Amino acid sequence: MPSSFRSHACGVISKEHLNQTVTLNGWVNRRRDHGGIIFIDLRDRSGLVQLVFDPSVCDATTMEQAHKLRSEFVIEVCGNVVARDQAMINPKLSTGEIEIDVASLVILNAAKALPFQLDEAEKVDEELRLAYRYLDLRREKMHNFLKLRHDVVFALRSALNDEAFYEVETPLLSKSTPEGARDFLVPCRLQPGEFYALPQSPQVYKQLLMASGVEKYFQIARCFRDEDLRANRQPEFTQLDIEMSFTNEEHIFSLMERVLGRVFGDVFNVQIPASFDRYTYKDVFHRYGSDKPDMRFDLEISQITDLFANSDLGFLKAVVEKGGSIGALCVKDHQFSRSELDKIVAKTIKDFGAKGLLYIRFNEDGSANSPVSKFLPEDFLQQAQAHVPGLTKNDTLLIIAGDYADSWTSLGRLRLYLGQELDLVDTKKLSLCWVTKFPLLEYDVEEGRYYSVHHPFTRPEEGWEKKDPAQITARAYDLVMNGEELGGGSMRIHESDLQEKVFSFLGIDKERARESFGFLLDALELGCPPMGGIALGLDRMIALMTNAPSIREVIAFPKTQKGICPLMQSPTVIDKEQLKEVFIQTRVRKAEDA
Ligand code: AMO
Repeated sequence: MPSSFRSHACGVISKEHLNQTVTLNGWVNRRRDHGGIIFIDLRDRSGLVQLVFDPSVCDATTMEQAHKLRSEFVIEVCGNVVARDQAMINPKLSTGEIEIDVASLVILNAAKALPFQLDEAEKVDEELRLAYRYLDLRREKMHNFLKLRHDVVFALRSALNDEAFYEVETPLLSKSTPEGARDFLVPCRLQPGEFYALPQSPQVYKQLLMASGVEKYFQIARCFRDEDLRANRQPEFTQLDIEMSFTNEEHIFSLMERVLGRVFGDVFNVQIPASFDRYTYKDVFHRYGSDKPDMRFDLEISQITDLFANSDLGFLKAVVEKGGSIGALCVKDHQFSRSELDKIVAKTIKDFGAKGLLYIRFNEDGSANSPVSKFLPEDFLQQAQAHVPGLTKNDTLLIIAGDYADSWTSLGRLRLYLGQELDLVDTKKLSLCWVTKFPLLEYDVEEGRYYSVHHPFTRPEEGWEKKDPAQITARAYDLVMNGEELGGGSMRIHESDLQEKVFSFLGIDKERARESFGFLLDALELGCPPMGGIALGLDRMIALMTNAPSIREVIAFPKTQKGICPLMQSPTVIDKEQLKEVFIQTRVRKAEDA
């Protein structure tokens, strides 16, 4: 029988323990036979230690058992800590100076042949790793992700506790709120035909907590969004959610800078600036073609519309005459080959949404080399230098023309691509910045209506009444880290008439607003303080800090890109009886449902 207590964790044993008898538990990481002596690397979550089964020390039964050991058997051993021979010392292992001369062994559980070897997990299909996630998670690298995540959450809780915040849990069985994605719905047996929605975020609850006088709230909150999945998106994910009463942007920014400074320092041993740079949405979009700029490399967009106002190039002149814009990225001192440039043109059209890309390379003598060279004036380099800061010979301009927002978006994507392809990104750099003054609304031409850029509870900036809805700016902000949106928040609307007005911009009339949000409008009329807040994506933060290729790596049991859990094989078909209990009937999917 196993003894109830192990005396030590595997990874902590060192020369300090020489000649002591220890009892250890763990998994067989690796087994080697050397002329009758069996070596086992025993693993628990603290690390590895080498066990030695030597027939001159162990009795015959123990040796017989030791011969049965295979990878991932779970065992208990009792033995003596001895020094390794000088030649056998493994400096890469914390326990590399010692080994355990085993006296007794108990096999706590055997393991069948594994679907993949743990040290080869990175090479197998991700779906197989996810189907046996508990095996995958046994690996040190995956353990470290879990541990870091725990440390980050612990540090966040501690920092916010020190800032006098209360952690309050809010319901998961909730009501649909318009956060921009589709809701996951849960049928309610007690209210036939009615559904809860899983929260896309605790947004409305945290505002109600401000109406409850909590003043400073946070939550490590699970959120659910039925949206198309990508490397940085999961259908269920975790936010650090924060809300404060009697506050403004300055309070929120400095709180987050303090809290993140502490977490990054304590957990990752990384010093971040005491305050982060701030940019307006208009500014970053103009310079980087994105609202989440990667500031770890330069390569800003230059506005070169005027350069082509009187050009012989008909298609560019036409863009200018139609009120469009022409933007350029200037790649410095890189000898692009013709095929490299052709590849960039094709990629820009296929993947970055542009109708075309024009390149102009400047030769050593300053002349232009481009499919359109013969239409360019002789002094084109000098003319272009007036529009593109720092442009010189040997540089290449990559030009996109058209509608401002579309061309700049394409240039922004091209910029990121070039950053990777040309190795421009300083991957050691950690870049954090605030992006502010977003538009309140965006117009969807196809649907002929406005949508909230953040969410409908976002406060418009003073003076909004005098503006066209498309021109109103929001008191909203995003926190951007290394080109990814780490968090977002805003000052909220705390007056019911303003809230109704913003609903009306979104096509929600008074009656529908009452029906869907009567509880919130009432709360705003019963003594609700001014308030604001923010939410950070916890999975994204850990993935960014660990350079994980996807947030799936840092979530214990994630879903695939298709929203499937290969481990539990969910979602699943539910049998008719169970559906009947919640008054749901399903039917076979028809072609017209697609
Ligand atoms: P927002 O929708 O911007 O704001 O979300 C905040 C942060 O949550 C993370 N995030 C995600 N992470 C993984 N998978 C997803 N599908 C996903 N969607 C969002 C991002 C994002 O920046 N209620 C507001 C916050 C507020 O106004 O206070 C909200 O949820 O890192």
